[in-house]
Amino acid sequence: MTSGSRTVLVTGGAGYIASHCIVELLNEGYQVVAVDNFANAVEDPQASGFPESLKRVEQITGKKCIFHKADMNDTQALNAIFQKHEIYCIIHCAALKAVGESVQKPLEYYKSNVGGSINLLMVARNAGVKRFVFSSSATVYGNPQYLPIDEKHPVGVGITNPYGQTKYMVEVILQDLHKSDAAWDIILLRYFNPVGSHESGRIGEDPQGPPNNLMPFVAQVAVGRQPELKVFGSDYDTKDGTGVRDYIHVVDLAKGHVAALKKFEKSFGLKVYNLGTGQGYSVLEMVEAFKKASGRDIQYRKVDRRGGDVPTVYGSAALAEKELNWKCEKGLDDMCRDLWRWQEQNPKGFANK
Ligand code: UD1
Repeated sequence: MTSGSRTVLVTGGAGYIASHCIVELLNEGYQVVAVDNFANAVEDPQASGFPESLKRVEQITGKKCIFHKADMNDTQALNAIFQKHEIYCIIHCAALKAVGESVQKPLEYYKSNVGGSINLLMVARNAGVKRFVFSSSATVYGNPQYLPIDEKHPVGVGITNPYGQTKYMVEVILQDLHKSDAAWDIILLRYFNPVGSHESGRIGEDPQGPPNNLMPFVAQVAVGRQPELKVFGSDYDTKDGTGVRDYIHVVDLAKGHVAALKKFEKSFGLKVYNLGTGQGYSVLEMVEAFKKASGRDIQYRKVDRRGGDVPTVYGSAALAEKELNWKCEKGLDDMCRDLWRWQEQNPKGFANK
């Protein structure tokens, strides 16, 4: 079988990470079946039931993407999708992802992210599909015990919110699943902080309401949607007192998924990879880089620390480089330039009204 005849099921397909993965999959000749429940997506005004983000993915790539509207907890809908398409492997990105909201609505988060994953895995198993890439997060490492964080770092300790717990729990479920049946090939990808957008500026991150994450917030300050950035904490033991993170360009991250699923050509077992750059930048460094890329002033004010934040997180991606033959090609200036292009061209995101 050539990669061109292989069909990849991408869940959460309309979302930020998945839409960028789909661009790379289509460019590599894979067929894509995307599934999304529209919890976080905007419909194409000309084609109801089809996401605006995927319409733009088709325009970017000049290729078609099959789409089904379905929730991960809807067994019947998922069964129908697996019956209709011969799925080669699954990239599972569907999840609720607002950290603060997860504290207010833990049951919704556990049902969607943990329950939905279990349901998807059961449907996949019944259909005989046992190749699975999971969209996990560096949040599973909690407060780092050493830096850079590698894949051997302890997980599941000191996770400060239900969102992070759901990522950890699904990892545990996948480990147990693999122990029960070695026919499963499973890759856990632990993302550091994805930012930026496709270089076309046509797709990008489109948060509902005020963004929780740093860079979407900075971009909205630049276009005047937010008055100022609040810098959460300036007394950390870091280079300038503000939090340090490992920001990774979303296109590099997407390419990491394609590199991972190429491993499914041979039986692979269960593997875990960090996807990050290995480089930490402070909040103020990110603000400066974005100012330079956008030519806009970014008003900010230093305020108290945000509960649950840790001072410094950055990872080693050496294992992914060695085993997946993947490494980041884009730097801070690319991340800021591409984020700015998306934000400037789409000041109100996909709705753009
Ligand atoms: C957060 C989540 C993490 C999730 C990740 C990606 C928490 C505790 N962690 O990580 O579980 O996987 O997003 O979705 O929420 N900052 C500001 N002002 C802002 C926003 C952020 O100063 O308005 C600072 C933060 O204090 C931090 C850095 O910017 O130092 C990055 O924050 P953010 O983008 O929210 O990512 P994380 O906190 O790393």
